[in-house]
Order: sequence, then C-alpha cells, then structure tokens
Amino acid sequence: MGDSFYPSLGNEGYDVVHYDIDLDVEPSSNTLEAVVTLTAVATDDLGRFNLDFHGLDVETVTVDGIQAEFSREGYEMTVWPAAAISSSTPFTVAVSYSGTPQPIADPGVPFATLGWHSDNGVIYTVSQPSGAMTWYPNNNHPTDKATFTFQITVPDGVTAAATGLLTDEASADGKTTTTWHMDDPMATYLAAIYIGDFERHEQRLNSGVLIRDYVPRGSDPSIREALAITPEAMSFLEEILGPYPFEAYGTIVVPFPLGFALENQTLSVHGPLLLQPEIIAHELAHQWMGNSVTVDDWSQIWLHEGFATYLGLMFDADLSGQSIESVMANWHRQLAFSRTSPPGDIEIHELFDFNTVYLRGALTLHALRTHTGDDVFFNILRTHYDHTAGGTTNTEIFLGIVDDLAGPDAVSVVESWLYEPEMPGIESGPSL
Ligand code: ARG
Ligand code: ZN
Repeated sequence: MGDSFYPSLGNEGYDVVHYDIDLDVEPSSNTLEAVVTLTAVATDDLGRFNLDFHGLDVETVTVDGIQAEFSREGYEMTVWPAAAISSSTPFTVAVSYSGTPQPIADPGVPFATLGWHSDNGVIYTVSQPSGAMTWYPNNNHPTDKATFTFQITVPDGVTAAATGLLTDEASADGKTTTTWHMDDPMATYLAAIYIGDFERHEQRLNSGVLIRDYVPRGSDPSIREALAITPEAMSFLEEILGPYPFEAYGTIVVPFPLGFALENQTLSVHGPLLLQPEIIAHELAHQWMGNSVTVDDWSQIWLHEGFATYLGLMFDADLSGQSIESVMANWHRQLAFSRTSPPGDIEIHELFDFNTVYLRGALTLHALRTHTGDDVFFNILRTHYDHTAGGTTNTEIFLGIVDDLAGPDAVSVVESWLYEPEMPGIESGPSL
C-alpha cells in the first residue's frame, strides 16, 4: 500500500470488510489451530492477491469456498483463486493454519518484539504497528479498517479476552469458547487477545458504555483501585472530544512488567507499574485519537501520540490541581536540555520516541492552544475528530482545519513545532 515507513505492509486490489478469527488455543504448549475468514471486496480485477502473514503452518486456503493455490515468501502470502475475481465483487478467503506464533522485530519498536507472546503463563498480543500478521492473516495497514468477530477456544477454567463485546460463552468437551464482536471499524494492529488467569470486573456507565477490566486473579487490590479512575477520565475526555466512540472500554493488566501500555480498540493493555491516571487517560484518549481516527501513514504518528499525551497530561493536571501551563512549561524546559527531532519529520526508529513524538507532539498542541486561546483550540480538536471519526487522517487534514478555524498564523505555529529542527519557544498567548 506504500506506507512511507512500511512499504510492504498492506496489499492492493481489495478492501477487507470483516475478519472472522476462530482460534483454538492450547496455552500449556502455546499452540493454536485456527480458521480465519476475511470478507472483502475486490477494488480491481484479481487473478491473485496478497495477505500479510508471518510464520505458522498454513493447511488450506479457500476463496468463496473453493480451494485456492497459495505461496509464501517472508510475510507475504500470495493467493491464486481458482477463478479470477472481478472488480467490485465481494469474496471470502478462509485460511486454516496451526502451530506456535512467533513474535517479530519491528524497526519502529526497537524496545520490544511484536505480535503474539507467551510469557509467565499468559498469552498476549501487542501488535502496533506490524505485529498483527504474527497471529492472523490480514491486510496489515491502518487504511484498511474492518469489523471483527473473535471466537477463542481455551481449556475450561482459563480466561480469554479480546477486543470488542463479549456476546457468547459456551463449554463443551472440557473447552470453553468465547465470542467477541467488534462492530466498529478497527485497524489490524488494534485487534488483541489475552489468555490466562484473569478476573473480569464490569460496570455500566450512565452513558451506556460498558467498562470491563481484567486483572490477574488474586492480584493486589491497588490494581483495581488504580483502574477506578477510568470513568472520571472518560467524562473528562468526552467533554473535550464528544461521546466515547465504541460500545465498551476496559483495561487488561498483565501480571508482569510491560515497558509500555497499548491502546487496543476497547481493551487497552497495561503492565502493573503503568497504571498512573495520566497513562490511563492517555490510552483512553487513543480510543478517539488513534483508534476511531487513525493515521493513514505511520509517519504521521504524532497525531496519535501528541494528542494522547497532551490529553493525558491535561487530565492529570486537572486531577492534581496543577495548571496545564506550568506542566507544559516544565516539559518544555526539560526538553530544551535534551535533543528532540521535529515530530512531523521523523525516522522509523523514532516512531515511539518519547521526547520527539510524545512530548514535542503534545507541546505542538499546547503551542497552538496558547496561540488561539481555549475556545478556538477546543473547537479545532472537536472539528478534526468529528470530521475524521471512524476513518483516517494526516497532518495535512489537521492543518486544513487549523487554517479554517484559526488562520494561517496558527498553521505557521504548528508547522514550526512539527518541522523546525530547533524547538520553538512557547509564546504567551491570549489565554494566559
Ligand atoms: N501506542 C502506545 C502508547 O503510547 C505505545 C506502544 C509502544 N509499543 C508498541 N509495541 N508499539 O500508548
Ligand atoms: Zn500513546
């Protein structure tokens, strides 16, 4: 699809509409047997097409129920349907496979491996950006969102959790199958599953949103106490961005340190040491900025991380009675001592660089706010979100909205923060 950082992720010629992911998992051996069915629409006449898929043993591939030839090279799987598919025609591809999924290295995430992991008695996925192809075949690019169904079969007594709404649970022959539906469009990297010994806790907010958290069974009460801030973070963010975009939200806390948290759609994952209000609000903010609205190229990641960082810091400042001006002034001073690159012009290894993308990304928004004042700034955030919800965005789209609502000087402020090698100063603006 030509992502500027991941030129070979994603495939042309079709749009996926729905993934049906059916996994039978044996946690003790970390093996699975799977059938994944994609429903897609051809956007071209297709004599063959590619899926992104890494490792595992593929047994059969069918297209519209008829056996198809396939070949594999690296993480590209090429499928030759028995009959060519003509443009605009819907079709289904079913892939059956088995084995032990292997995590992969990704140059954008030098601090972790991605995809399916089995550690400390827990199976978990962390897929941003490229890891989804380690556990299911897909069109691995955020511009091709789809709805999902997950059916996860595990031995009785083991808990399975997935992104989406839990709609069914059935036991037979010593195994339990849980079914999950994600009826809102989701990018491949935001799908996730967890298998282990977890307790589920749920509550329904007045807004109708279901909150369901998963914590390790018997874990310290401080973990659930930390998660209790979620509804307050939800109200805070809804006030700024509008109604929460999905039917459910929750956090799964894994029973071992994880060096980051990750905003899977409707089910963020956190390590037990990363449950501060700022981080909980950060992952929740991603549900709007990152998940409902997703960048159309990974180079635009500041639009996820800068927004989530700024909103997380705003929530934390509010909670602790600090002014956001002083919080941001402190970060600005600290960053001035370290090196940052401009967040709008990063290299792949800087994708999750905390100073460059997260902090200078957040400062970019704060500088815009300082320039425009609160009313115009929050109108920009809300308008950009409303304009792109459920789809994709990029810096140009964002700057177009800044231009419309605040004019060319405001665009120049944002551009200087995004693109100038030297970090700008913070002007003192009308709101201060
Ligand atoms: N998007 C995550 C966050 O800041 C960062 C995840 C980094 N790790 C990864 N595997 N991509 O909230
Ligand atoms: Zn983030």
